[in-house]
Parts: sequence; structure tokens; C-alpha cells
Amino acid sequence: MDVLQYDVVILGSGLAGLRAAVEAARTRTDIRIALVSKVQVMRSHSVCAEGGTGAALRPEEGDSPLLHAWDTVKGSDFLADQDAVFRFVEMMPQEILQLEHWGIPWSRRPDGRINQRPFGGHSFPRAVFASDKTGFFEMQTLYDTLLQYEHVDIFNEWFVFKLLIRDGRFQGVVAWELATGKLYAIHARAGIIATGGAGRLYAFTTFSHIVTGDGIAMAYREGLPLKDMEFMQFHPTGIVPSGILVTEGARGEGGYLLNSKGERFMDRYAPERMELAPRDVVSRAEMTEILEGRGFKGPNGLDYVHLDLRHLGADRINERLGLVREVSIKFAGVDPIEAPIPVRPVQHYTMGGIHVDIDGKVPSVEGLWAAGEAACVSIHGANRLGSNSTAECLVWGRITGELAARFAASTKHDTLDQEALKKAQAYLQSMLDRKGNESPYAIKHELQRTMDRFVGVFRTGDELEEAVRIIRELRKRYENIRVVDTSRVYNQDLQTAIETGFLLDLGLVVAEGALRRTESRGAHARRDYPERDDENWLKHTLATWTPEGPEFSYIPVTITYWKPVERKY
Ligand code: FUM
Repeated sequence: MDVLQYDVVILGSGLAGLRAAVEAARTRTDIRIALVSKVQVMRSHSVCAEGGTGAALRPEEGDSPLLHAWDTVKGSDFLADQDAVFRFVEMMPQEILQLEHWGIPWSRRPDGRINQRPFGGHSFPRAVFASDKTGFFEMQTLYDTLLQYEHVDIFNEWFVFKLLIRDGRFQGVVAWELATGKLYAIHARAGIIATGGAGRLYAFTTFSHIVTGDGIAMAYREGLPLKDMEFMQFHPTGIVPSGILVTEGARGEGGYLLNSKGERFMDRYAPERMELAPRDVVSRAEMTEILEGRGFKGPNGLDYVHLDLRHLGADRINERLGLVREVSIKFAGVDPIEAPIPVRPVQHYTMGGIHVDIDGKVPSVEGLWAAGEAACVSIHGANRLGSNSTAECLVWGRITGELAARFAASTKHDTLDQEALKKAQAYLQSMLDRKGNESPYAIKHELQRTMDRFVGVFRTGDELEEAVRIIRELRKRYENIRVVDTSRVYNQDLQTAIETGFLLDLGLVVAEGALRRTESRGAHARRDYPERDDENWLKHTLATWTPEGPEFSYIPVTITYWKPVERKY
């Protein structure tokens, strides 16, 4: 196996990975940085972020980092670590201005200042946006900026499937170059995992097919604990039937949710905030309307409610929600200028992730950080507020990029563990040699159907037990998979087989963690335990890999400022 020498290796080229790469490059010009992406950089899923990035920019109009922190902590159902939240809200305004200086075309107010729109759970219009293609423009700006640095190499379409960690020290990664089938070890002093969440655990999801939790699963397999994985976010407006996102910005601009009786039903669930309550609240309201027979019949059981934008008028829809209009026409056959859009809750975010400290550092491994959705810092707790995710990618991309660069510049390379390289090579070959009678595609599909059905907006102990049983069964069947394509070039069968293995590991962590948490908090709504239970469950879940499945332990939430109170909207 060829070995490439770098100082810092960054996995993932979405917003967190790009921001980390830029910061590492700015911090030290005397190091070499590798940015490794499973896809072409501008195909990373962050380009799909639509509605905005949260920051308290307007003290003169009544907003403040403190108010942003309060909204975030309340939105998290008090499971967020408050020290991390404070750091986040204080750094965010700077990040918005930094992107402005790097050239992003933020949408403006008529007077030329940066515009902000309302988002769910925020008590101030706080989402800075670039029309409804915010993620795309953020990605493009960071990518353009990164290309100025000659000490950064970008590896497009390289699939990292193994972390190299020996005696608590990060050594690098093993990557498969998809275009040639060649394997490489990337030997590095420091690493940052920024590979995103695990959205493709679900079939009805806003996520691209590439988002298979690779970094989270690789960390888990190395014995690193995963935190709070049972908290999955369901966004209230996934377009039916594809699941493609209709941004919360549509409600921020004034869109209504209507049931089949034409009622704006949110007045029964969140009379003050209405459609701009947090996502967990709005998603539960929609599902209640649907389950109680006030929804519309949709294809494949995807019953829905209506998102009505008609009253906004064509000019506003075209200016602020052009992408929403385009996807509604293309994917639902509905022009929102003329008719309401069919929507329902859709998997949208993994609140949990690799357990890291407030610096994004993996506590038990020297030289390893994680950032963005792959990490759990935790600022989102049990429910993330819209616009805080792209924001988190910027803040912890910056923090981890700087720390990893400084660390790499001040340490020596560890000698590579040759045994681990041989094992990685043997693992890939053994996957290629699989000649069983199970299809990895079918197993992945069954996993996704199971998650859609039993680990959704509402959960019960019985449903979660059924999910755990099925996933354990799928894991056994996975032992007997077949990889039909034996070529080396763009082997989609092999890639799917590896990704499905990752997803199976994570699915079990999510379902078992959810089964154990016998309370309702944020996005984890147990019908059999409908109340929040601070006495027993005001704590983070940690799941650690064992051959039999995850082992669970719990750690306290960091509460520095606000004691938990009842959460009303
Ligand atoms: O609705 C949206 O535009 C999504 C934003 C987010 O998840 O933060």
C-alpha cells in the first residue's frame, strides 16, 4: 500500500471540513494538509442547506448572543451543554462577517445591510441567508478561499474506510481511490472527522445518498464513544414523495401549514410561535393531524399536510424561495405560486455523533478532532434549532482546524502501524470476495424501512424493540452478502457493502439508545413515556462498541447558566 505523508488530514469536504481546512491552512503555512472527500467537493451534502445560518447580529434591534443561547438551550430541551452553547453564539457573528469578507453574496436589506429571516424556535429573525441556497453559496465561498492555499491537497472521490489509531494516538487513515481502486495510507499527525451525519439510515430523508455516517461509524469501530445518537431530527417540511427539503425559510417568510380541513392547526400546539415553533414541536403536530385523520392521503403511506405560500405572492416567492419553487414543480408537480405544497416530517439531522469536548477534540485520542454533524459537542441537545447546523460547522470547523494545525506543527510523526495497514487491506479484499446470497442493497433498504417505520417522530418501547430485533437480524444476514462487481474502478457494489455495514452499526446504536431512554425529550418522543424526566434522564448517552452491540453509559449535562424549566411555545 502506498503511503502519503501529511501533517493534517481532514475527512469530509462539507462546510465543517472546508472551514477546518481553510483555518488549518491560515494557521500554519509550514504544514501539509490533505482534504479527503468521498465525492467531488461541491457535491458534498452541505450544498443542499437552504434556509440560513444563525447569528445574533443586531444588538441595536434587541438581539444578543445571550438570547441566541437561551433559544438554543430551550430548543435543545435542556440537554445542550451550556458552556459550548455560549462559545458558539459568541463566535457566530464573526463567522458571518468572515464569510462576507471572503465574498459570499448574502441577501441584503434594502439599505444594503445583511438580511436575516425568522426561523423556528428563535425569538429574533436570526437566520442570515443567501436566497434559499445558503449552503451552496457558503460552500462555494469556502472552496474558492481554500484553493488559494498551495499547502492543501484535495483528494476528490477517495473513500476513507478505516481510521488508524494506536495506543491512543491518531496516525492517519486508509483510503480507497474510487477511480482506480488503489489503496493508500494517509499518514498524518492530526486528523479531523467532518463526514456529516447518518441521514441515510432512513429512506424518507432530506439527505443525499452519500450521507452514510462513515466517520461516525469508523470512530465507533475504533472504540470511541458516540453521544446522544437516539436524538434524530425530523424536519416538518419534507416534500412528498421524494423527501427533498422545503426550507423552514418558507415558513420564516410567512408560509402557513394547513390540514385537510383548511385549518392552520399549529394554533392548537404552539399558539404563540405557530409555524415557527421548533422542529420537534411542529413535526409532532403534523403527525398528530395526519394520524387523527386530518391529513391528505399520499403515495406509499406518505400522508401529508399542506404548506401554503400562495399569499406571499409571486415576487417574494421568486426572490426568496426560488429553489423551493423549482423543487416543488419538479418533484411534486406543484407550483407554490398557485397551489399548496404537500409536506410531512422527514429525517433531517443527527443530533448525536462522536463524543468530543468543547474544542471538538476526541478525549481519548491524541491528535484527533471531529466537527459538524459527525461530532456531538453538544450544542443541540435533544433538538436542534434550524440554522444552528451550518453555523456549528463554521464555528467548530474553525476551532478544530486551528487546533489540529498547531498540534501537527508541534509534534512528531508516529511510526505507522503496519499490522493495521495489512488488516485494512485484508478487510477490503474480504469484502470484494463476498460470495454469499444476500444483497447489500436489499439489506440497506430494509434497514431504512425499519428506521422509517419504528424509529420516527413518535416511538414506543414495543416499536423500538422490534427495530432492534430486525436490525440485529439484518446484521446477521449482512455476514452473508454478495459483492457482484469485482472490478477496481468505481465499484458501487463494494462501496454500498461497506456503507451498509456502517449504517447497520449506527442503526443499532440509535434504536437501542432510544429504547433505553424511557422519557420524552426534544425529538425523542416516547408515547409510552410522554413526559420529560429530569430526575433520571438529564444526562447524555454514550454508546461504545462491543462485538455483541453497543454498551451504554451516561455522563452529566453541563449546566452553567439556566436550570431546566417547562418548555412552552
Ligand atoms: O429548513 C432549512 O432551511 C434547514 C436549515 C437547517 O437545518 O438548519
